Amino acid sequence: MAKDRFGRNIHYLRISLTDHCNLRCVYCMPEDITFRPNAELMQDDEILTLTQLFATLGFDKIRLTGGEPTIRKNVVEIVRGISETEGIKSVSMTTNGLLLSQLAQPLADAGLERVNISIDTLEPEKFKRLTRWGKVNEVIEGIDAAEKAGLTPIKLNAVIMTGYNESDVVPLAGLTQENPWQVRFIEMMPFAGVTEFQLSQMVTAAQIQEKIENDYGALEVVNNGKLDGEARLFKIKNGTGDIGFISSVTSPFCSSCTRARLTSDGILRLCLLREKEIDLLTPLRAGASLEELRGLILESVWEKPWGHGLEKGTIALNRTMSEIGG
Ligand code: 5AD
Ligand code: SF4
Repeated sequence: MAKDRFGRNIHYLRISLTDHCNLRCVYCMPEDITFRPNAELMQDDEILTLTQLFATLGFDKIRLTGGEPTIRKNVVEIVRGISETEGIKSVSMTTNGLLLSQLAQPLADAGLERVNISIDTLEPEKFKRLTRWGKVNEVIEGIDAAEKAGLTPIKLNAVIMTGYNESDVVPLAGLTQENPWQVRFIEMMPFAGVTEFQLSQMVTAAQIQEKIENDYGALEVVNNGKLDGEARLFKIKNGTGDIGFISSVTSPFCSSCTRARLTSDGILRLCLLREKEIDLLTPLRAGASLEELRGLILESVWEKPWGHGLEKGTIALNRTMSEIGG
């Protein structure tokens, strides 16, 4: 069991399969971003070796992220390998959904349990502007394919920015009236690359909730107000699905955090919003024993930061969001 010095049991690993992406969302990366050469990324066998290692330390829940995980070559085989790893109980993925119309069924067959799909607006022109070239109908087809493949419950992620998609809050929330989906509004967090934008255009969960309530009336608390992962859940009166707020900035959930992140270049990061990192890939490539690597992981988990420092103005500037994997 990997415990940190605050007694948190760290058992949830997010693995970024690549920092590359087929979109360039304005809140995530600059348009002219350069991605890492493939040789610097963990190779398929390295991902599986590290997954096995984490599983022996009690990690049982894996989420695959990016950049965009579905553009990784062999993604289906990687999912199969991870889901067949002894000790791994669930494998899910965060994706922009563009490729799910082809990949949802093969991924489900390979053992993927669920997907979170990002969709920040339902309007084609706005979607294009905020992803810099994406087609929203491809995401909608992806959501449909994910549902048909049983990658449920479907969770949709939206980041709201002033000047881009504030008027999409109500239509996005409205999706939960008829659909058994969880639509989650994530407060925009600052990282490297587009920091000024992220700081200046951020809309708070409270502001978003107010917009929804102006239209739909007071939201009903779900789950007795207990967090579902990182989201506080609500329902529109008589709604089918749930509305979630992930208030990472205004109301951090660090005290219940159980996660660690493995970046696509094989670096362990214990907090999304802290710069501290521990390189696992270099020692793995240099022939470190599994015992040595286990020691490195346990030591860094022990040192997991208590929480982020956004309220004190501390911003992690060593990577863009896409290089960490949300
Ligand atoms: N702040 C909050 N969420 C972000 N995402 C990407 N960049 C940011 C940011 N700066 C979201 C994506 C995706 C998930 C991985 O994180 O929309 O849903
Ligand atoms: Fe790609 Fe996701 Fe970043 Fe958008 S938010 S550019 S889809 S990694």
